[in-house]
Amino acid sequence: MKVLVATEKPFAKIAVDGIRKEIEAAGYELALLEKYTDKAQLLDAVKDANAIIIRSDIIDAEVLDAAKELKIVVRAGAGYDNVDLAAATAHNVCVMNTPGQNSNAVAELALGMMVYAVRNFYNGTSGTELMGKKLGIHAYGNVGRNVARVAKGFGMEVYAYDAFCPKEVIEKDGVKALDSAEELYKTCQVVSLHIPATAETKNSINYALLKDMPKGAMLVNTARKEVINEAELIKLMEERADFKYITDIMPAANAEFAEKFAGRYFSTPKKMGAQTAEANINAGIAAAKQIVGFLKDGCEKFRVNK
Ligand code: 3PG
Repeated sequence: MKVLVATEKPFAKIAVDGIRKEIEAAGYELALLEKYTDKAQLLDAVKDANAIIIRSDIIDAEVLDAAKELKIVVRAGAGYDNVDLAAATAHNVCVMNTPGQNSNAVAELALGMMVYAVRNFYNGTSGTELMGKKLGIHAYGNVGRNVARVAKGFGMEVYAYDAFCPKEVIEKDGVKALDSAEELYKTCQVVSLHIPATAETKNSINYALLKDMPKGAMLVNTARKEVINEAELIKLMEERADFKYITDIMPAANAEFAEKFAGRYFSTPKKMGAQTAEANINAGIAAAKQIVGFLKDGCEKFRVNK
């Protein structure tokens, strides 16, 4: 059996060593396609792979067509919007993610970006503090929970809204659960986004939602760029000079944001949330173990294309 790690944005070496150990202990062969620059390289590498570990790498119908021996794809991470699930099902390929394995890393980055922004990007001027500010967590999954934990350490007042998580579960963590996204954005000066990119959420963070955020508002995005209605966010930031947008996922209109909103806009050059050795080890080794469990015992825990 051949397991391919196909990562345009590679794991830390220590994580790859751990993946290799798991795969070779099971008697399988490990192949690496790291830092690839062209889809053709991926199409070639998947030809004889029985299993693939990916990150945000795109697995579409063309890749699945090329991967004639493929049985399973594991997205080492949470969001699987980069995999065409219907095509995978049609090709009889199991798709899994590794929920929770990189969530602390993403949460730490979200809080780090908040500090960076309220301290005026460390430009030498006087900034403000997070303590006492109201933080709204939009979607209370694995990352949202970790953001709440760290934000409470900063002395923030933490609120959350999640359409699918019961209010009692949120409130057990000492977080105030609100009834709607509208209420969350009206209440909180800082909002941290943790919704997945789905047909329902795409473009859903729009002018109508953001316009009522309190003075000195800051939107922090460590989720996906697709959930933002970029044209409406630009319109809002043109109208509100107090509004900051801080993102770990570069918008399509990055140049326009950077030019128009200098001093209140920041994007990382490449999604960095899960880019820690710890997150790479956790998610990468979990992915390897899930592949071995699936190939040896048919275990389908964490399958997402049921
Ligand atoms: C995830 O969905 O797990 C995160 O967005 C991390 O993605 P990455 O593995 O591409 O950094």
